[in-house]
Amino acid sequence: MLQGKRILLIIGGGIAAYKALELIRQIKREGGEVTPVLTRAAEQFVTPLSASALAGAKVYTHLFDLTDEAEMGHIELSRSADLVVVAPATADLMAKMATGQADDLASTLLLATDTPVLVAPAMNVRMWLHPSNQRNIATLQADGIHRVGPNEGDMACGEFGPGRMAEPSEIYSEIKALLADGPLAGRHVIVTSGPTHEPIDPVRYLANRSSGQQGSAIATALAGLGAQVTFVTGPASAPPPLGVTVVKVETARDMLDAVTSALPADAAVFAAAVADWRMSEAAAEKIKKAKGEAPPALSLIENPDILATISQMKDGRPALVVGFAAETENVVENATKKRVRKSCDWIVANDVSPETGIMGGSENAVTLINKEGAESWPRSSKDDVARQLAHRIAEALG
Ligand code: C5P
Repeated sequence: MLQGKRILLIIGGGIAAYKALELIRQIKREGGEVTPVLTRAAEQFVTPLSASALAGAKVYTHLFDLTDEAEMGHIELSRSADLVVVAPATADLMAKMATGQADDLASTLLLATDTPVLVAPAMNVRMWLHPSNQRNIATLQADGIHRVGPNEGDMACGEFGPGRMAEPSEIYSEIKALLADGPLAGRHVIVTSGPTHEPIDPVRYLANRSSGQQGSAIATALAGLGAQVTFVTGPASAPPPLGVTVVKVETARDMLDAVTSALPADAAVFAAAVADWRMSEAAAEKIKKAKGEAPPALSLIENPDILATISQMKDGRPALVVGFAAETENVVENATKKRVRKSCDWIVANDVSPETGIMGGSENAVTLINKEGAESWPRSSKDDVARQLAHRIAEALG
C-alpha cells in the first residue's frame, strides 16, 4: 500500500507515455497520490486531460505558467513529493538530468528536487546503447538516481533489444520498495558482493566462481525493509539489485576504498568472495609466451581483509558487522574461529563443498554464528536466506 505517499510523475515524450497512464491508475489504486507533469513532447503522446482525470489532480506542463507559480512554485512542487518518478525517461530528459540542464518544467523540477528520483528509461535500442547515453546512465547511477529497466523486447519502432520501458507493474514494485516504511527505514547498510578480479597483466586476471547471487539477494531484502543500501560489487554475473546505490569495483583494494567511502553505515554485510591474493606486481604489458621458455612464476601478496579492517575500526565502525565463511570442512568450528579472528559480530557460515551445489546454485544452507553460539537454518533459496538475515539485522539494530 502507498497510503499517504505523494509521487511526482514526470511523463517524458515517447510512445511508452501511454503506459504512464496505467502507472497512475496502479498508484491510485494502492492509495498513493500522483501529481503528473508532462513535458511538451509528452503532450504529443498523451493529453494532460487523461493524466489529470486518472490522477484526480492538477497536471503541470509549463515552467512559466503564472497561475501555477502563484498556487505552487516549481521549487515547492519539486520538494512536496516523497518520490519523483520519470516514466518514460527519454534519452533527452536523462541527458538533461546528467548535465544539470533546466530549460523546461520537468528538467527544472529534477534539478531542484531533494527527494529520491526513479527513472524508467524508454528509447530505441541504438539510442540506449549509444556511448553518450550509456555515459549519462553511469552519471545518473553515480548521482544515486534509481532506475528500473529498460527491458529487452520488441519495440514500437520495429527493432528488438534493450530499450522498452519497464511494465507499469515493475515500476510500481520499484516505487513500493523505494517508499518502504520498513523497520530499516532511515538506516544505511553496506553490502559487498561478487568476486574480485586481480590483474596479472592488462588482459589476464585472477578470479573465483562467486556469482554474486547471495549478495544481490541480501541487498534486495534489506532495501525491501526500507534500508538505504550501498551495494559494492565486483564483476558478478548476477545483475545488481534495483533500488540500491550500486558501486562497481574490480579489485579487493578498490572494494576496500569503496566501502570506506560509503561509511558511515549502521550495518555492513560482507558477502563478497574477495580474492585473498593479488600479484605482487601486475605486468604493465601482456606477458608473452616465448618458445622453449618456462612459464612465468606468479608472485603473490596478500590482499587487505575488508571485513577485518572495518570490524577493527576504532572510530566509525558500523554497529553491526556481518561476515561470511565459505568452508568445505568443519564449517561451524572454522567459522567460529574466523568470527573471533576478524572481530566481526556475526558470521554466516556455509558449506561450499561441490556436492552441496551451493556455490553458483540458487539455494543455501547456513549457520548463523554470533557470540552466543551457532544457529543452523534449514536449507532454502538464497532469497529466503537473505530475507531471514535482513529481518535479523533489523531486529539487532532495533
Ligand atoms: O577469510 P575468508 O575469506 O574465509 O573470510 C570470508 C569473509 O571475509 C567474507 O565475509 C568476505 O567477504 C570477507 N573478506 C574480506 N576481505 C578479504 C577476504 C575476505 O572482506 N580480503
